[in-house]
Amino acid sequence: MQTIDRVADLRAQVRAWRSAGLRVALVPTLGNLHAGHQQLVRRAGELAERTLVSVFVNPTQFGPNEDFERYPRTLDADRDKLRAVGADAVFAPPLAEVYPGGTEEATFVQVPGLSEILCGAARPGHFRGVATVVSRLFNMVQPDLAVFGEKDWQQLLVIRRMTRDLAFPVEVVGVATVREPDGLALSSRNAYLTPEQRSHAPLLSQVLRETAAALGRGRSDYQALESQAVAALERAGFRPDYVVIRDATSLAPPRPNQEPASLRLLAAAWLGSARLIDNVGAN
Ligand code: PAF
Repeated sequence: MQTIDRVADLRAQVRAWRSAGLRVALVPTLGNLHAGHQQLVRRAGELAERTLVSVFVNPTQFGPNEDFERYPRTLDADRDKLRAVGADAVFAPPLAEVYPGGTEEATFVQVPGLSEILCGAARPGHFRGVATVVSRLFNMVQPDLAVFGEKDWQQLLVIRRMTRDLAFPVEVVGVATVREPDGLALSSRNAYLTPEQRSHAPLLSQVLRETAAALGRGRSDYQALESQAVAALERAGFRPDYVVIRDATSLAPPRPNQEPASLRLLAAAWLGSARLIDNVGAN
């Protein structure tokens, strides 16, 4: 498994694969990889003959008071984890390869509407940074397909819309969230939890599952269900940003008695210094 850090070398490698008739999958990551990322790489390997994983801590998707500086840079360990699941190459570029003119005056990609609600409201500019870096990666790699985790459901929708609107010839594939045995969604940010907080953290997925089950039983008092979920989290020491029931594709509030199969429950909540997010389907 090779590590590439220059766009010119990346393009040469992808060209060689393509001229041999091989399909190329891209798995974009921030690094600090865990079993959830390994699952994305496995899925990519099922769908394409070559899998390239990008490892880049993208500054433009972090807010001024967020964890960009302390986000763990663990390239050697990441490489071991990627090799174990059969990745073909790692693209780990320096900042100047991705943002040749710096980040201040960069050209940005903005997906309106979807980017400003929920996590976008709590983290202004976050999805603009995500859409920008993913569009740059799409242009650099020119993959046949790209694989993203469903844990970041809103991000997946933003990327799908950007891909459609900018006519990228890339198939965007979502992969189900990988969870700990107690239900906690895998996330690099779980490492910020103290042992005490870690013991409470599975409540986030539990509350979402219970709310989903209530919808499945026919309840449609959406606001009451959301308020109950928020209260349950607050009682356990979470500081919720939101717990909402939304249309799974548009993230619009549900219509009265909307079919549960077309709904998604999404939550973001702070536990100590970790901002945890999770989502489940409602069927
Ligand atoms: O989900 C992530 O890890 C990041 O937001 C992504 C898609 C790699 C863009 O930096």
